[in-house]
Amino acid sequence: MGRYADAFARSIDDPEGFWGAAAEDLRWTRRPDRALDASNPPFYRWYPGGEINTCDNALDRHVDAGHGERAALIYDSPVTGTKRTYTFAALRDEVARFAGALRRLGVERGDRVVIYMPMIPEAVVGMLACARLGAVHSVVFGGFAPKELATRIDDAKPKVVLTASAGIEPGRQVPYVPMLHEALRLSSHRPAKRVVFQRPEHRAELDPDGDITWEQALDGAEPVDCVPVAATDPLYVLYTSGTTGAPKGIVRDNGGHAVALHWSMRNVYGVEPGDVFWAASDIGWVVGHSYIVYAPLLYGCATVLYEGKPVGTPDAGAFWRVVAEHGVRALFTAPTAIRAIKKEDPEGALIGAYDLSGMHTLFLAGERLDPETYHWGVRVLDRPVIDHWWQTETGWAIAANPRGLEELPVKPGSPTVPMPGYDVRILDEAGEETAPGTDGAIAIRLPLPPGTLPTLWGADERYVEAYLSQFPGHYLTGDGGHVDSDGYLYVMGRTDDVINVAGHRLSTGAMEEVIAAHPAVAECAVIGVADSLKGQLPRAFVVLKAGVDVDAEKLAGELISSVREQIGPVAALKRADVVPGLPKTRSGKILRGTMRSIADGEPARVPSTIEDPGVLDALRPVLRAEE
Ligand code: COA
Ligand code: AMP
Repeated sequence: MGRYADAFARSIDDPEGFWGAAAEDLRWTRRPDRALDASNPPFYRWYPGGEINTCDNALDRHVDAGHGERAALIYDSPVTGTKRTYTFAALRDEVARFAGALRRLGVERGDRVVIYMPMIPEAVVGMLACARLGAVHSVVFGGFAPKELATRIDDAKPKVVLTASAGIEPGRQVPYVPMLHEALRLSSHRPAKRVVFQRPEHRAELDPDGDITWEQALDGAEPVDCVPVAATDPLYVLYTSGTTGAPKGIVRDNGGHAVALHWSMRNVYGVEPGDVFWAASDIGWVVGHSYIVYAPLLYGCATVLYEGKPVGTPDAGAFWRVVAEHGVRALFTAPTAIRAIKKEDPEGALIGAYDLSGMHTLFLAGERLDPETYHWGVRVLDRPVIDHWWQTETGWAIAANPRGLEELPVKPGSPTVPMPGYDVRILDEAGEETAPGTDGAIAIRLPLPPGTLPTLWGADERYVEAYLSQFPGHYLTGDGGHVDSDGYLYVMGRTDDVINVAGHRLSTGAMEEVIAAHPAVAECAVIGVADSLKGQLPRAFVVLKAGVDVDAEKLAGELISSVREQIGPVAALKRADVVPGLPKTRSGKILRGTMRSIADGEPARVPSTIEDPGVLDALRPVLRAEE
């Protein structure tokens, strides 16, 4: 048996033994009574009885082991022309002092702190300071609009909000403070204080009633020690798009998360403590939480915090410059970033200018890795390109090619095999397992491994309803796909209303809610259509109310701006078509899947329950129309 097969079998047959051993690598203030508490299915808890602090394991533990002078955080910001490296000792000191500042503002164990910040070191310091206090952070991605921020503030009910004066996007600044103020106007919850990091590039006007600067918060603050918390206590809540406009608050615990991420660094990513790891993502997404902040630091790697883009900051060689300059051993990004680079530098000519000899592997996730992008990556980089599949909910890879455990053969189009602890099953509509090669719903038999969501924030019932009810005893991933006869998994796409635009997870349902609120709109459908750069792009189809006479182009402009204003620029809705009708089943369900297949030029399944095939026929030319 290979090392992978052996580890996988042990994790399923003896989760207690497998994950109990993995927990030994971390520092516990109280050792867990056991690995898994399965006494209350479908809720499972990892490491009951254990006490741990995630910040202690990410920073202090390495300092105490004599690695305080090793690089921990490498900030590289082409948009501001700044580079700065923090050692483990320096980062520990900054975090301890900022935790002291937060405590003075009343933040204690279990309290929530919302972090709405760009990719600057202070954002990481804020996250780790929360972890140090046993407080629960909730990071909101900067590309979301005030209304989305307000929804998250109302759900998480933070004591304090951390923000910065501005984010810097190529060609424009994104002032966060006015957006935060607008969000607070829209929300009913009132955080006691807002701490604003003033960036030299843009100074925000503060509201004396509740806004304070980072310096004011820090002034005279005493460093604080790590607060031990229960392994099962929440470390963070990260909201992600679901089927409706109400985002789901994914809860991450402390103990299971630390163990799983630590395990993944050696076994999945094949790195060693002291190596430089770079996840070119954003701290607002799960990839940023897990692989910019927590996993590299828990494992004792240096992590790169890159405030820039794959192209345009200044060119398509930016990633290779960062890899060479900081000695990155493993780079992790989204396929869309590689497609953006490929578009500008089709032959990879800029790669030659940099010494990439220290880079062993390129890891990709966040959306399906199309074989063309895979082959291009292998050709121009001449090193392994590894697809892996996961979700905000799981926090780490469900399926991967575990490079540190065993280098399995790569099959383009497949993220390889399930990771230990993930008992993946492909189920048909009746909940029966499909034969190899046959598509179905990808589900995971409970319990999920450590590090995955124990529940949704304040919403146990919604957790069960959204994930566990369709196939009892299984977690529903929301993705469809199949396994081949070698056990390789193929993830073909979402089976719900979630779309993936440039690696950003978005809800078409949320966009439909915004569009349907327009006074001229009777009904609408938003679908994700294939796009050669961003993977998918949203397209809206609207039916006007009877008797309404509006200019279709003007209406489209209004709908596009509403989505941008209410969800955010990342929603990237660029096209809305007025159509005479939407195809539906006799029970009134809009045939979004059929519409999507036609738009993508794929064979479309038209259900026999269609109400009026003429409506679909009339829509075909609009669906197929190119930009
Ligand atoms: N704050 C504010 N606005 C943001 C933002 C942020 N943090 N991130 C993106 N936006 C804005 C962009 O400026 C853009 O605005 P515009 O419509 O005014 O141009 C809009 O949101 C859409 O952004 P995006 O979808 O990222 O497209 P892009 O054309 O700016 O860039 C890529 C395309 C491929 C270069 C970019 O999407 C990318 O680097 N993707 C990697 C994805 C990733 O890291 N995913 C995380 C999972 S691994
Ligand atoms: P997020 O929660 O933002 O990480 O998005 C998770 C979703 O992205 C998954 O449910 C998939 O639909 C998609 N996804 C992520 N990684 C992959 C991958 N390697 N292959 C296919 N789809 C992926």
